[in-house]
Amino acid sequence: MTESWRGRCYSIPAVRDEARRILPRPVFDFTDGGADDETTLRRNELDFQRVSLIPRPLNGPGQRDLSVDLLGHRLALPLLIGPTGLAGLMWPEGEKAAARAAAAAGTAYCLSHGSVCRLEDLPRIGAGPRWMQVFVYRDRGFTEELANRAAAAGYDGLLLTTDNQMLGNRERDVRNGFAIPPRFRAGDLLAMAGKLPWLWRMRNELPRISFGNYVRQGQPVDIGSLAKRMAELLDPSMSWRDVERLRQVWKGPLIIKGILHPDEARQAAAMGCDAVIVSNHGGRQLDGTLSSIAALPAVVDAVAGRIPVLLDGGIRRGTDVVKALALGAASCLIARPQLWGLAVAGEAGVAHVLEIFRREIDRAMALMGAARIADLTADLVTGDQRWMRSRP
Ligand SMILES: Cc1cc2nc3c(=O)[nH]c(=O)nc-3n(C[C@H](O)[C@H](O)[C@H](O)COP(=O)(O)O)c2cc1C
Repeated sequence: MTESWRGRCYSIPAVRDEARRILPRPVFDFTDGGADDETTLRRNELDFQRVSLIPRPLNGPGQRDLSVDLLGHRLALPLLIGPTGLAGLMWPEGEKAAARAAAAAGTAYCLSHGSVCRLEDLPRIGAGPRWMQVFVYRDRGFTEELANRAAAAGYDGLLLTTDNQMLGNRERDVRNGFAIPPRFRAGDLLAMAGKLPWLWRMRNELPRISFGNYVRQGQPVDIGSLAKRMAELLDPSMSWRDVERLRQVWKGPLIIKGILHPDEARQAAAMGCDAVIVSNHGGRQLDGTLSSIAALPAVVDAVAGRIPVLLDGGIRRGTDVVKALALGAASCLIARPQLWGLAVAGEAGVAHVLEIFRREIDRAMALMGAARIADLTADLVTGDQRWMRSRP
């Protein structure tokens, strides 16, 4: 591939366009789509536009320091890579490529339960800090097994995702007949001519794409329908008792992802969890929820500084990160932008995505008059929404 992709990928929306050009439709739609009518998916991005910045340029921040302290690590920027299943479908060994890019940028990477690689593979490449994401399984022993494997492999945090116990109704995937490994229909093949570089790159991987962490000796690789497989594995009757149990099993930082209600955040803090992530799973689960940025202020108020509050969902610009931080987030996570970067150019593509964000955050801080992340305070944002009022 020529390096001209860098020129075309001048922003995150441009990286998305490039990924759409490269990936077969069912694969691109798997990364891009949301549940039902995709209302939450759209809201996540649109609600950032309803937050307005109030800059103080006369503060004159000649040099900006983008670093943050988070759960015992100093990160070079307030942006981590969140968990995304099947990143290895974007690029051969996609999870390792993305984790390397995160480490090189000085930030953390969270491996998904549904990674194509095994969780033991990341420590071998030396990438860190790294977190491991798990669910509550019908077989509670398997949840604990994953936590114990993550501890043995030296993970720095365990992230429990709470909003995916029954898979969302992702109609793009239904329409495309998305399955794992992907199967392409005659109609898709007609559109495949432009996708040959991806097919060639993935020729050895495609037949054995699976969830690496679940593969046991003699188990078939074929997952088939994601919804059916997840329904077999995950328990919708998950409760706080499961959080309590996990808190006993996992001694390191425990992070709860999928929080929108302030009382859930309060309870997580009371139960000894170390951070919460305000998230609606990027609009892939329950459709019609609050956007993440709209949910953030009340969660920040509820937690009252006891534990860090992180946010994901719809972060596509440096100014989105700056708005979230000003509203009280300790840091943000990205998911889709990282997958699009992977699809475009593997590790170099993810590095490029992180660099776009770094430059945009730096520029926004300069124009806002903020030299340090701590300078991004609630008085620097406003909005016409009721949810804005809960912040001082
Ligand atoms: C293709 C894809 C796979 C995902 N897989 C997982 C997963 O395995 N575990 C999880 O907790 N979240 C998963 N997510 C949700 C993301 O971690 C994140 O919450 C969400 O996408 C919001 O961020 P975004 O707007 O930057 O994509 C996935 C998201 C996408 C797009």
